Amino acid sequence: MQDSFHPEILSGEHVVVTGGGTGLGKAMATRFASLGARVTVCGRRPEPLDDTVDDIEGRGGAAEGIPCNVRDPEAVEDFFAEAEERQGNVTRLVNNAAANFLAASEDISPNGFDAIIKTNLYGSFYCTQACGRRWLEREQGGVVLSIATTYAETGSAFVLPSAMSKAGVVAMTKSLAAEWGTAGIRLNAVGPGPFPTEGAWSRLSPPGMDLEEQMRERIPLGRFGEPEELANLAVFLLSDLSSYMNGAFLTYDGGEVLAAGGQFNQFTQLPREQIKDLFEQMRDGDG
Ligand code: HXC
Repeated sequence: MQDSFHPEILSGEHVVVTGGGTGLGKAMATRFASLGARVTVCGRRPEPLDDTVDDIEGRGGAAEGIPCNVRDPEAVEDFFAEAEERQGNVTRLVNNAAANFLAASEDISPNGFDAIIKTNLYGSFYCTQACGRRWLEREQGGVVLSIATTYAETGSAFVLPSAMSKAGVVAMTKSLAAEWGTAGIRLNAVGPGPFPTEGAWSRLSPPGMDLEEQMRERIPLGRFGEPEELANLAVFLLSDLSSYMNGAFLTYDGGEVLAAGGQFNQFTQLPREQIKDLFEQMRDGDG
């Protein structure tokens, strides 16, 4: 993929990526570091964090991994204090850590609901508030990017707590864009469509159903997203290239959601010439 960002575009920034040990978080953290940022990744398990840090340092970047469960507000506060002690003031936050599983909503237990809501919604709030407090006091602004999902807007069957929590994250983004924008703090959210990563896919793609192919067919661009493509958008949103964007929710799904909604979109499944012939026949019939 062509790389046209300035190689130092994030130089001077200290970016925190929650859930940065695996999947999309790791891809973003690695990309930010390759473009000059100091990166701190957090997650519950130390081993994946070490892997990310090794990867980044192996390419000459600066990274730290500090275990933290974002569901725990005290742990989050300790995490930011430690991150700043190690690599200086945090200037950018990516709320990426997410919990999810497929379940019939009537069967979800209170603990199951908590596990998802507390990670996605409470965790994003705790981290955002920890940064916001610092940035307001320092009067230097800052940028938050929250990774939501397409169904934060549409809702979705069988992932109810995820949909509820991601909708809340988008509401937080829009609310704080107004409240903290006055202090130069920008907040935006992205709604990725399917970006197959091991963690998410193993929980969200039922085995033996060939759903993967069906999912792919629903996407006008005919393929899933690549982690690097999300990382590119994240770089843009964290950098001054997007300096006037505040409170946005950007769907990033190859057109999947819109394709599912348009009344006549299913005609795109037919060969182009066949559909044109049908339209001609209808027109002739009318004339
Ligand atoms: C029903 C489940 C469950 C499942 C866990 N629980 N998995 N209930 N179905 N598959 C219930 C447990 O029974 C328990 O409730 C409660 O959740 C807590 O479970 P714990 O095992 O204690 O685990 P915990 O580690 O706290 O949380 C489990 C987890 C989490 C929610 C599954 O580990 C997780 O989400 N990991 C996945 C990380 C990940 O892949 N994130 C990417 C998401 S991608 P009881 O009542 O029994 O005590 C995404 C975007 C999707 O969200 C977009 C797609 C296009």
